[in-house]
Amino acid sequence: LSFLYRNIVRPILFQQDSESIHDRTMRALAFASRHASLRALASAIYSAPTKPVKVFGLKFPNPIGLAAGMDKFAVALPIWECLGFGFVELGGVTWHQQPGNDKPRMFRAVEDRALINRMGFNNPGAEAMAKTLAGWKCSRLWPKHPVGINLGKSKITPLEGAAEDYASSFRLLREYADFFVVNVSSPNTPNLRQLQDKGALDEILVALQQINAERKPILVKIAPDLSFEAIDEILELAMQRQLAGIVATNTTITRPQSGNPVYTQTGGLSGAPLRQRSTEIIRHIHEQTNGKLPIIGVGGIFNAADAQEKLEAGASLLQIYTGLVYEGPAIVKTIVEGLR
Ligand SMILES: Cc1cc2nc3c(=O)[nH]c(=O)nc-3n(C[C@H](O)[C@H](O)[C@H](O)COP(=O)(O)O)c2cc1C
Repeated sequence: LSFLYRNIVRPILFQQDSESIHDRTMRALAFASRHASLRALASAIYSAPTKPVKVFGLKFPNPIGLAAGMDKFAVALPIWECLGFGFVELGGVTWHQQPGNDKPRMFRAVEDRALINRMGFNNPGAEAMAKTLAGWKCSRLWPKHPVGINLGKSKITPLEGAAEDYASSFRLLREYADFFVVNVSSPNTPNLRQLQDKGALDEILVALQQINAERKPILVKIAPDLSFEAIDEILELAMQRQLAGIVATNTTITRPQSGNPVYTQTGGLSGAPLRQRSTEIIRHIHEQTNGKLPIIGVGGIFNAADAQEKLEAGASLLQIYTGLVYEGPAIVKTIVEGLR
């Protein structure tokens, strides 16, 4: 199936602008989500065997999840389990709705199996997201696997107001997800990554834990461009503020040595060129915490060997974005079968 996708479907899709394809694909998946026959068809072709894991108190049917940024509007929530995913991370969502950066803002570096994006948290806002999720709850199409939400900071909110911005989104959305990811690592919101500094991050985590009566797992997603020293400071906070884990990593602002003109585009780079750095960071976190802090590994996973590398480095769960674009929807099944 991946062979068919790579050689027939992908060349047709890749003739078009990458965000247009993304939007069309999401519309098709949203449509399929609402039709039992299409869900059944997708499951028949793509559902993955089980490989259960229990992490931060939640049961995952398999360790492969959908990374943040794919289903930003939660329009296709029921389809992901039909495509084999063991969990999803919806969003990033911000307190205020926002259009994101000007288009074009998503680019492919096909030879390197990479993407560059500068979306800038285009999203419907926390309130609209809550409504969509309430609709899914009522529809009885809510998936059986854990659902996470990726929280970002609204562009119009100054850094000093960040804690309240995250907390407002969390207050509204906390009943709709099993775990939450504080995203302070997107390169596409001005100065956002400064919130990875100890003081600023602590303020956000205190604000969230104060209103986290149900003790939902809260994780922090970090940039691959941080030094190990900076990561160690975040790990200290993780212990102090009872974080459930770390998501490692977001996209990188570094670029490979290559003449590909697409690398002059501003934004975050994902896919194969990110794989090694992301794995190094997972290994570092695992060693520093003696394996006690769960890690969701993400960055450049395309096949079972890439997945195995990150599990061996210390990740308990994994996520995929760019791999799905390049390998197609059979990727989850192929990886889970490979891991088994
Ligand atoms: C178009 C696009 C949008 C993304 N949006 C988000 C986001 O909203 N929040 C977030 O934490 N990460 C976001 N990411 C980062 C991914 O979740 C993931 O961390 C990164 O792409 C590395 O994984 P990959 O190599 O499998 O793509 C986005 C990535 C892409 C390509």
